[in-house]
Amino acid sequence: MENSGKSGFLWKRTDYCGDLRAGDAGREVILAGWVQRVRDIGSLVFVDLRDRSGLVQLVAGTDRPEILEKAKKLRGEAVLQVRGAVKKRGADALNPDLATGEIEVELEDLEVLNQAATPPFVISDPPQASEELRLKYRYLDLRRPAMQKNIILRHQAALLTRNFLSRKGFLEIETPFLTKSTPEGARDYLVPSRIYRGKFYALPQSPQLFKQILMISGFDRYFQVVRCFRDEDLRADRQPEFTQIDIEMSFIQREELFDLIEELMAEFFSLGGYKVERPFPKLTYEQALDRYGSDKPDLRDEIAIADLTEIGRSSGSELLSGLIARGGALKGLLIKGVGGFSRSRLDKLQEEARSLGAGGLIWVRKAEGGLKSSLKLEPDKLRAIWQALGAEDSDLGLLVASDTKIAVKVLGEFRKNFILEKIKDGRLDKNKLAFCWVTDFPLFEWSEEEQRIVSMHHPFTSPSPADLELLETDPFRVKALAYDIVLNGYEVGGGSVRIHQPELQARIFKILGLTPEQAREKFGFFLEALTYGAPPHGGIALGFDRLVMLLCGEESIRDVIPFPKTTSALCLMTGSPSPVDLRQLEELGLQITRS
Ligand code: AMO
Repeated sequence: MENSGKSGFLWKRTDYCGDLRAGDAGREVILAGWVQRVRDIGSLVFVDLRDRSGLVQLVAGTDRPEILEKAKKLRGEAVLQVRGAVKKRGADALNPDLATGEIEVELEDLEVLNQAATPPFVISDPPQASEELRLKYRYLDLRRPAMQKNIILRHQAALLTRNFLSRKGFLEIETPFLTKSTPEGARDYLVPSRIYRGKFYALPQSPQLFKQILMISGFDRYFQVVRCFRDEDLRADRQPEFTQIDIEMSFIQREELFDLIEELMAEFFSLGGYKVERPFPKLTYEQALDRYGSDKPDLRDEIAIADLTEIGRSSGSELLSGLIARGGALKGLLIKGVGGFSRSRLDKLQEEARSLGAGGLIWVRKAEGGLKSSLKLEPDKLRAIWQALGAEDSDLGLLVASDTKIAVKVLGEFRKNFILEKIKDGRLDKNKLAFCWVTDFPLFEWSEEEQRIVSMHHPFTSPSPADLELLETDPFRVKALAYDIVLNGYEVGGGSVRIHQPELQARIFKILGLTPEQAREKFGFFLEALTYGAPPHGGIALGFDRLVMLLCGEESIRDVIPFPKTTSALCLMTGSPSPVDLRQLEELGLQITRS
């Protein structure tokens, strides 16, 4: 082992920095990494060296003046290799916040492998720079221990998923990225064909049709950890390209798939030390909306929306009884322990309710002299409401009288926000996981944007057999054999039992407004495949980024994706999307008419 004095990695690394412990004391080690921090106290220099495993403190002293001088000149983010002896720290120098805080490495040799320019922000947790700057210099942001931990956990979760599914008899089979549009409700990313001018590939919104075709091909159990592409409005839990754990199985009942996914989730979250309770509760879509005002309810808290319509009808208030007589409802939500909210906070809730479409918000609370409400009501009616909500003295009742859909939506939104508030201020355990299945979705919904009937999931979802005769006559009452898996208020997956009869599939296309020619042009290959012995099958796709986000305890999927886009779909590091050469456009037969 010899230090050649030249730059380049010449010694064989023995350990990762963050792995060293008191038990290593006395060992000679060779480490490599980046300079996190240098503290120069004259006769001693302390250097924090960082690699993907964590930090370790190096120390140089006057017994090796040459090393001491080198250490004094070190700058943040320089790349080093070092040799030294692991020593236990003195009792007064222990650092309980650091995994390696019981030891340090006394430097015997130090080589600077590369210098680093001054980074545009300090690389530390929690981050101090804006997300924009961090995304521009993503390679530096990714050096943060928290990001390294997330990306490593992401790898472990993908590996666990692959091993789990392979163990259960699933085959990972790749499907194309240059393909034909499959409808999942978003816009497609298109790729122009050079050879066939004027024709386009679409990047897959999901491998839906390919996985169904693989069932027709007899593969029986398919999965893929796969990138999907959707040109849609972005949020903290949405990216234009994201990863699914995509699954399809033949000859199954829905319950078999539920069992499989629950077992996978239990193993997946055990990576983060979580215990997952099974079986997951099941709610129908209607129950979810009725009780929680959302089809992705956060079940970490039990509070539910109460139906107070009957009390409202006989309340003596013309406003309430009139609204209810016109088909409206009175819904209530009990918020525990916040009866003392200030008037301005209550006014703010009023405003929020209005912005969500309600005419207003009625609050009820206990004050000196009895129950008080923002709507004048007889004391016995107020008492009936208070009792129906199951309220106690310090609570607040929030009521919305409106069209049922709006009333539950507004209270559902309040419910969600109050739960988040509870978690933030520690009244609810932030490490709690609350899964549920939401089932029995409607097969169709009305799209205001497109002014037409659309599939709520996708057009390959089987209608509930009991509702088949309603398909043409009353399509909005038809239920689907579709399900979502929800975790802590996030939709982390969705799937269905599929249509496997070509006639039924053709019927669905017709209801969706596709002429037989259009259906043939778009999905002819698939309709034809269904005629050659398609087995009954079904599946699901889990949102891998969302699951990893929850596993890592993050609030944005951007924090678990190595190179994410901004909410405006930009990659700030590479500067994409970007213009292309005129020559490239010409080759593709394309012209930009507007920018
Ligand atoms: P679906 O469209 O419900 O179903 O997608 C499945 C899951 O993928 C995640 N997801 C996203 N994650 C991040 N960014 C996005 N833009 C995004 N869009 C969706 C969600 C969602 O639950 N082919 C069907 C599945 C099937 O029927 O088997 C499908 O893609 O967590």
